[in-house]
Amino acid sequence: MSEETIHIARTRAEVQHCIQAAREGGKRLGLVPTMGALHEGHLSLVRAAQRSCDFVVVTIFVNPAQFSPTEDFSKYPRTIDADLEALRDLGVDLVFMPDREELYPGGFSTYVLPPAVADPFEGQVRPGHFRGVATIILKLFHLLPTDVAFFGQKDYQQCQVIRQMVEDLNVPIEIQACPIIREPDGLAMSSRNRYLSPDERRRAVSLSAAVGEAVRQVQAGTTETSVITERMHDILRKAGVTKVDYAAIADATTLEVINRIDRPAVALIAAYVGATRLIDNALLTAE
Ligand code: PAF
Repeated sequence: MSEETIHIARTRAEVQHCIQAAREGGKRLGLVPTMGALHEGHLSLVRAAQRSCDFVVVTIFVNPAQFSPTEDFSKYPRTIDADLEALRDLGVDLVFMPDREELYPGGFSTYVLPPAVADPFEGQVRPGHFRGVATIILKLFHLLPTDVAFFGQKDYQQCQVIRQMVEDLNVPIEIQACPIIREPDGLAMSSRNRYLSPDERRRAVSLSAAVGEAVRQVQAGTTETSVITERMHDILRKAGVTKVDYAAIADATTLEVINRIDRPAVALIAAYVGATRLIDNALLTAE
């Protein structure tokens, strides 16, 4: 079905050839890197790319290097037929879907040491995660030298890591972070939401409620971040979300934890709802 009507490249040589051809046509190229299991959040990235680019390539690759041995790489959701159908319906120009050997052949042993912004939060809880993300993204940027690359702001720290890497390593690709897409009740869309039972799904909304409360507190003039994070923890606790990796407020650029809202800041949460680890965030700007 979808495979016949959408252009899929599976090898480095094929994808480089297609990108080269599009470049020669003078097109503005957009890249949307994904790990598949596509939802509205991903599709919003594709639409954003289509609005500002003439040729859009989506990559689907579950990157083993960003999973730790305790995280289950093999259990990451894979919904390839539905993904290709959605991308075909949107009319993407090219899908790059390499297998593992294509990107990590035998003998592969070079990794990117990510910037300092990778150290706190996800970096603490998931050591090595951003090393894997930075490595695959730099590899994709080399194989697919597009003009712009699109990332979801739900992975706020990931966006900051990639921005800093691109800046530090002089990669000539513009990074565009796109807004979080939410379910009607506020839950941020995520490939992992499908693991939630009906009861967990109800409790999961506490993450967006907590970051939303942080936004309201700041708008109401609260500047002590400890007051705000206490409220965030309260909301999670009341929803029975007790395994909280972090619920914190940090400088929006460096992700250093701050005590007062005296600069652009971000509220960040990672917590388990049942066995499913979810993240959410919101930018906080003092009036
Ligand atoms: O956000 C993701 O899905 C992944 O971390 C990314 C950016 C595609 C790299 O594998």
